[in-house]
Amino acid sequence: MFENISSKDLEEGRKYLMSGSVGGGLPVLVESGKGAVIKDIQGKEYIDCTSQAWTFNIGVSHPKVIEAVQEQLQKITHVRTSFETVPKLLLLKKLGEIAPKDLKKISFCLHGSVANESALKLAITNNPQGMKFLAPFDNYSGRTLVTIAASWPYHPISRLFAPWMEHFIRIPNAYCYRCPFNLEYPNCGILCAEYVKTMIEHGTEPIIALILEPMQASGGMIPPPEGYLDRIRNICDEYGILIIYDEIQTGFGRLGAMFACELYDTYPDILTFGKAIAGGFPLAGVMQKDTLKSPEPATDSFTFAHFPISFAAACATLDVIREENLIERAKKMGKNFTSRLKDLQNKYELIGDIRGPGLMIGIELVRNRKTKEPANDVCHQIVKDAVEDGIIFGESKFKGLGNVLKIKPPLVISEAQVDRVLEVFEKHIKKHADILAKK
Ligand SMILES: Cc1ncc(COP(=O)(O)O)c(C=O)c1O
Repeated sequence: MFENISSKDLEEGRKYLMSGSVGGGLPVLVESGKGAVIKDIQGKEYIDCTSQAWTFNIGVSHPKVIEAVQEQLQKITHVRTSFETVPKLLLLKKLGEIAPKDLKKISFCLHGSVANESALKLAITNNPQGMKFLAPFDNYSGRTLVTIAASWPYHPISRLFAPWMEHFIRIPNAYCYRCPFNLEYPNCGILCAEYVKTMIEHGTEPIIALILEPMQASGGMIPPPEGYLDRIRNICDEYGILIIYDEIQTGFGRLGAMFACELYDTYPDILTFGKAIAGGFPLAGVMQKDTLKSPEPATDSFTFAHFPISFAAACATLDVIREENLIERAKKMGKNFTSRLKDLQNKYELIGDIRGPGLMIGIELVRNRKTKEPANDVCHQIVKDAVEDGIIFGESKFKGLGNVLKIKPPLVISEAQVDRVLEVFEKHIKKHADILAKK
């Protein structure tokens, strides 16, 4: 079906894409991929430090995933959610075994945004007297009407849609590099957490739940300082507020732990997952504490939510993470990256901050270390130019935090590929450092 396609066919197709579906950002027409590499239609290879929206933790088109999917394709591709399939039950078993602590009740859907909406509904079910949710300033929960309202508040898209869903109260980010209170950790006494307590005490509407990413991803790659999540847990417990961890990006090994809550040893009442769980196939879902009330049947009923192909892919993905020891690998390669990036930081003023952990790396670029003036244009240009050199970097694309370059490759990235990524990164940083020095 896809043989002998002319560039005219492709051009014609391109013109029908609605702009709101993103698309067309980087000039790469993807044809195939393997490991940490994707290949374009001309055969050029790129090391993909975005893992295609952070989904290919186990590498692109892993053979075990393809085999599991092909096996299931021969049988049946779709069943209604009220029917069971073997991949569904097998996946529940595998997930139940790795689900952190008592988060042992699991539901499924196909998108992270929908999983977050399910989590919010689950919280309402368990806290029906509440009126509002809390979410950090630069939280990202997705692109459905409700989750947009819980995401980057100052982004024009959020401004357009958020007024339709006025259920989110924003709390300060635990963003030490640019502390919202201009304080320094640890002397700050983690005021960003204490302030949440003050807000709750002085607020007029009861809070249902707090939703947050245990490491904030889209909103600037911000890990919480030690003690922050614990303090937030205590405060929420004191006021009967549920906690939802959005682990859609942080789950399945990326931080060097299966889930971020295990790494930080602080646990939510509800956890959402997605992205990397099915090795590149669509799947997301919710884990809830088994002591919480589950929602009524049909609260979350979506036609394709129990997609057996994705379940088969997810079963294989979880096996691969274990068999290939990818959690340890994320730790090791993450250390390799961050320690060498710190060496580069000593050489180039442009590198303001380097954040991890694991292969969840954010590099904040600044014009001046003292003023911390964000270097958004530099970040954007590096991402654009590196494509020529066969490296796809991620970037925070929105105003305010558009100066954070992201390195989040598949966990299977090799040492030689790490070397190449750093070589290209340094080449471009040096170029921009020289330009700035001449100004
Ligand atoms: C932390 C987080 N939550 C939710 C979402 C939304 O997931 P999806 O795009 O699958 O709806 C994303 C996607 O980038 C995300 O990074």
